Amino acid sequence: MFAPLDVRGAFQIRRATLLDLNPIYKLEKSIFRRDAYTRLELFIQLALLPRARNFELVNEARDIIGFCGAMDNILPGRPAWIITLGIAENYQGQGLGRYLLDFTERQLRSGKVRLTVRVSNYPAISLYESHDYIHRKRLRRYYPGGEDGLEMEKRLD
Ligand SMILES: CC(C)(COP(=O)(O)OP(=O)(O)OC[C@H]1O[C@@H](n2cnc3c(N)ncnc32)[C@H](O)[C@@H]1OP(=O)(O)O)[C@@H](O)C(=O)NCCC(=O)NCCS
Repeated sequence: MFAPLDVRGAFQIRRATLLDLNPIYKLEKSIFRRDAYTRLELFIQLALLPRARNFELVNEARDIIGFCGAMDNILPGRPAWIITLGIAENYQGQGLGRYLLDFTERQLRSGKVRLTVRVSNYPAISLYESHDYIHRKRLRRYYPGGEDGLEMEKRLD
């Protein structure tokens, strides 16, 4: 068992590793449904991506109830990316998404971070706006089904 990196009440943040691929895949599918990353994409995120910063949130029973996959850019001066952020449905609305996002941002070494979100995803956009992300650009028909994406950015330095 890995030591927690951060603790909030009964919840702990741990570094996510390839050993967690199956529960993270299950969690992602339950949260994102048709937008969920495939098992292969999550394998790459957990095992192969250079400068990946992957963190999981676990409850008292040590079940993984949140995941944030991010990466610092290998090119100097280029932004980091939040690749995925999700909290299990029955744990949403308790401040845990904000907690995991905040922790992940503090692990990044780049001067800015970007992410992409569906334009209709009001809860996530609201979280990012309240975390000082600005709207950078709209990505036409970016998501499956043809919905636009919104690219958002935050300065970290
Ligand atoms: C987006 C998500 C990560 C937020 O996590 P969460 O734990 O539910 O959010 P928190 O309780 O930490 O709330 C933080 C902020 O998010 C926003 N928010 C969260 N749920 C919201 C809702 N249902 N409606 C509006 N805003 C909401 C609010 O700004 C909130 O701040 P406040 O409590 O001060 O109002 C979570 O809802 C989730 O996993 N959603 C599905 C996956 C997803 O869309 N991920 C983002 C993809 S880019």
